[in-house]
Amino acid sequence: MSEIIVVENLVKRFKDVVAVNGVSFTIRKGEIFALLGPNGAGKTTTIHIIATLLRPTSGIVLVAGYDAVKNADEVRKRIGVVFQDPSLDNQLSAYDNMYIHGRLNGLRGRELHEKITKLLELVELKEYAHKKVMYFSGGMRRRLEIARSLLHEPEILILDEPTIGLDPQSRAKIWDYIKYLKKEFNMTILMTTHYMDEAEELAHRIAIMDKGKVLAMGTAEELKSMLGQDVIYVTLKKISDDNNLCKLFDFVKACNMLDGNRLELVVDDASKALPEVFRVVSLNSLQVAEASYRRPTLNEVFLHLTGRELRDSLEQPSVPQRRRVRGFR
Ligand SMILES: Nc1ncnc2c1ncn2[C@@H]1O[C@H](COP(=O)(O)OP(=O)(O)O)[C@@H](O)[C@H]1O
Ligand SMILES: [Mg+2]
Repeated sequence: MSEIIVVENLVKRFKDVVAVNGVSFTIRKGEIFALLGPNGAGKTTTIHIIATLLRPTSGIVLVAGYDAVKNADEVRKRIGVVFQDPSLDNQLSAYDNMYIHGRLNGLRGRELHEKITKLLELVELKEYAHKKVMYFSGGMRRRLEIARSLLHEPEILILDEPTIGLDPQSRAKIWDYIKYLKKEFNMTILMTTHYMDEAEELAHRIAIMDKGKVLAMGTAEELKSMLGQDVIYVTLKKISDDNNLCKLFDFVKACNMLDGNRLELVVDDASKALPEVFRVVSLNSLQVAEASYRRPTLNEVFLHLTGRELRDSLEQPSVPQRRRVRGFR
């Protein structure tokens, strides 16, 4: 697969604040890539640089081969952006918000009308097309912003905290659209989130960011494997007279006998250790009544990397930050 976004050693300083501090990653065509991190990690700044709204202090950003600083126009043609902060005109209808955006992007007439209608249909807002946005719920606004970002048929969709502050039902809907866009149009999607479940549900690969740096990158499974700590629970049918079963499992990192006939085994990788566990059980003429294992969560990965819980930053609502979306600075 070809690389459609390349970010190399990106740095952005705001006076004495280093918002982005040497970030590198590449995104392949058709990939959903998530920047996951707490407030202040530098996600929005990174996205704004890629979207050509901010100039990097140093580093390279290429979008579809075009330099985000030198060829900003070419980059803009290829990306649709949904900002973290609301960017709709509340006094206008859904249709008119779309219409203005379309005109700004060189669309007009019948073609524009048809596109607006089709996209409003996609996000299930067609029947609200002529209602003022001020009457829309948070979820409806987000859907409208997504529809609007798709008007000029971008190859790449950039979503900054697409479900921040939304109720579970609205979040699920947004997730569905994101999956649909990937599936139907093989769209490349770069998103940021501070919700672990969102990154895990949607992204092929996740870059964990904190304090301006990418601390780790990979699939959710790869990130969890970094911790090398799966826990296997095995319940045995009947226990042998010898109740110190742990000595049979000398290949695990730690073993505990739990209540009943239950064993807790800490291993590097459960998928690799399980066959061996079953082998030892049957070699010793025992039988497994039940087996399960628990992978570490992304929260535990974050804790491991930073010493803090990502969860801690979840409940803080974002303060609207209008400061950076108006052009180069
Ligand atoms: N225009 C700006 N001026 C000064 N500091 C900024 C500006 N934009 C962002 N920052 C700072 O840069 C850091 C990263 O911010 P941001 O990219 O918004 O993080 P995130 O999106 O991960 O929450 C924060 O400490 C923030 O306060
Ligand atoms: Mg942000």
